[in-house]
Amino acid sequence: MAHVGRPFTDYKPPAAAPVWAVIEGLGRYHVLLAALELGVFEALDEAPDGTGVTAVELAGRLELPELHLESLLDSVVALGLLDRVVDDFKLNDAARRYLLVDGAASMAGLIPVAPGPHENWTRLADTVRSGRPATPIDDDPAAFYVPLVEGTFTTMWRCAGRADLKMRYSAMAAPRILDLGAGGAPWSIAMLQSCADGRATVNDLDGVIDVARRQTAEHGVADRCEFRPGDFHTVPLEDGAYDIVVLGHVCRTEGLDGARHLVERAYSALRPEGRLVVADYFIGPNHKTNPHAVLMGMTMMASTACGFGVTTTEAAGWLGDAGFEALRLIEPIGFQFAYVASKPRDPRSDGSSKRAK
Ligand SMILES: C[S@@+](CC[C@H](N)C(=O)[O-])C[C@H]1O[C@@H](n2cnc3c(N)ncnc32)[C@H](O)[C@@H]1O
Repeated sequence: MAHVGRPFTDYKPPAAAPVWAVIEGLGRYHVLLAALELGVFEALDEAPDGTGVTAVELAGRLELPELHLESLLDSVVALGLLDRVVDDFKLNDAARRYLLVDGAASMAGLIPVAPGPHENWTRLADTVRSGRPATPIDDDPAAFYVPLVEGTFTTMWRCAGRADLKMRYSAMAAPRILDLGAGGAPWSIAMLQSCADGRATVNDLDGVIDVARRQTAEHGVADRCEFRPGDFHTVPLEDGAYDIVVLGHVCRTEGLDGARHLVERAYSALRPEGRLVVADYFIGPNHKTNPHAVLMGMTMMASTACGFGVTTTEAAGWLGDAGFEALRLIEPIGFQFAYVASKPRDPRSDGSSKRAK
């Protein structure tokens, strides 16, 4: 207890731990990046099952100075992403699952690109002052999105596959799917794999859509895809043609008007009773309860021309205003959320589909 005030009161000042956690944040990220770049996790994976590797052995194998490598390995242990038993370093379950290149839910490719261009973070105060990042990813979207969608594919495909448990797309006969800003097309692939007669129209920008071409081919569904490159705000879309439209993690870069426009385009493209999937990291009414979504919104602000976090209120507003009904927020896998909403059986004739043109 610190004694402060007159007369003394027992007042314990707040701990500095949250400030230190922030200061260490930069180092934590770079420790993990360096370990990935140096191939530490793959090298440890080569050890026979259950055995560890000393820093000296690993340094020899990777041709690195022992002390520097040991310091890095100990830091990864401090992050909880490796185990150290006496002098032996070992992969733990989290490292096996997320950090090996072919781990079951590998994030190895995602980690370097997920925060956006790193230099934008060092200029964040300028971005807040000027209202625009110095080097928005919009200036060269393919350079940023190709590695990003390669890195997120495994997680999003797992999410899209599990979404079937909540929305039963597998029960649909020959659904027509429209996937706008599809990336590697994880949603189209999961849906087509469950619906033998389904077909998908897969959209993304020139230069990124080749990732979808490759992934759909590798997953054996490319022959049921039509690839439609172009800007999802302007690429021609058929009216009333689709059973499912997917907007997977695309709204948060588009700003409020852009996101509304995409939802309205989706409404026009759906047949009556068709469903829209809007996946994103939504910020709930209490911003403190989902810091991941809040910080994802900040990542958008730091690196895109129009992007911000998306709140549940905003997303539900776009859907309701466009004419959707029966809104549901699902969480197919941990921390991955999606709204699923239906176009009414008798869509109103007045508004949204005209606005979307
Ligand atoms: C975060 S990724 C999401 C990919 C995929 N939908 C998913 O859920 O994994 C955003 C995608 O939107 C695409 N994109 C961004 N702006 C676009 C635009 N104006 N027109 C079409 N696609 C766009 C990017 O190229 C990228 O593939």
